[in-house]
Amino acid sequence: MDSNSLKRLREWFKKNAAELPWRPADLDTLRDPYAVWISETMLQQTQVATVREYFIRWMKRFPDIETLAKASEEEVFKYWQGLGYYSRARNILKTAKAVTLEERSSDRVHKKTLPSTRKELEALPGIGAYTAGAILSLAHHQREAILDGNLVRIFSRLYALDFLPTDSRDSADAYWNYAREVADSPKAYMHNEALMELGRTMCKVKNPDCASCPLQNACRAHLENRTAEFPPAKKHLQKDWHGTVLIVESADHKILAVHGGQKFFKNQFTLPHFESPRNATAGLPAQAERYIDADKVQSVENIGKFRHSITVHKMECDVLYIRLNKKAPAPTSSETKWVRRESARDFFANSFSLKALERLLHRTDKP
Ligand code: ADE
Repeated sequence: MDSNSLKRLREWFKKNAAELPWRPADLDTLRDPYAVWISETMLQQTQVATVREYFIRWMKRFPDIETLAKASEEEVFKYWQGLGYYSRARNILKTAKAVTLEERSSDRVHKKTLPSTRKELEALPGIGAYTAGAILSLAHHQREAILDGNLVRIFSRLYALDFLPTDSRDSADAYWNYAREVADSPKAYMHNEALMELGRTMCKVKNPDCASCPLQNACRAHLENRTAEFPPAKKHLQKDWHGTVLIVESADHKILAVHGGQKFFKNQFTLPHFESPRNATAGLPAQAERYIDADKVQSVENIGKFRHSITVHKMECDVLYIRLNKKAPAPTSSETKWVRRESARDFFANSFSLKALERLLHRTDKP
């Protein structure tokens, strides 16, 4: 998200943040990690309005992790009764005990507080990526991301994402990358919580209040009048996609890499690629002329196919090997680069490009 949008988001939140028992009046205050953990766990499957009273009652009886660790499961359940999903309460108690456990047999000092790294937190019962991110950002002001249903809905609309994080590993990565971008700031704690609040009060599932939204100018779904389409209702069926990947090699054995303007890779170098019919005619495709002069082409050869999946797209691609009769030109923009053939395997970071490259390199590793 751009810095102007983030600034508008912070300003909106400072003006509109609801008063909640786990939220200090001064939003920049570091919070008690224990209180963040309890409130965010309660909030995971229960509405804010319900959680309020439960949280207040809980904190009176179990004001810190040590008090909690000494309680019986029976009593903990009593304080949870009505919130549902009792495994949450059971896990909270397990984690409290694990964290406060006295290790008399070892001389290792065991701190009776929740750990403050993602890895250690996520190793505890009931603490997943979301809760860990909430504790680290809200209590410790670390630049750690969170992703909950609110953020998913907002990102889906902001960027017109027609897939859900549950669709596949790559889909989840795409959403987490947006979440990390927002958290890559000393104000991560505020961005994270402001987005949850925005999702809850404004960017609602039904009838979002776009007219008052601080992100309206950046929101693709809103600008295209398509908020109802995002997030998509359920897992999308696999979409078949057929394309062509170009391996363009200059006379001095350099391979063309492009940055931006590609369907699947917006922020990294890839081999040029585009959608194309399954049985494209032979010869130089018109799309290739965006990158190279047709009169420098020495040969065009289809060197095979490969399959690859990205988000909901099940792809099948032809690999076209295009040899030029000239040396690689000096790049005319930061969007193209000529990479020495021997370095190509190390240069490309996505498996999509690497699979295509193997079609060429497995034939011979020598130019
Ligand atoms: N939903 C879950 N946690 C929240 C928080 N800290 N602020 C606003 N909405 C939330």
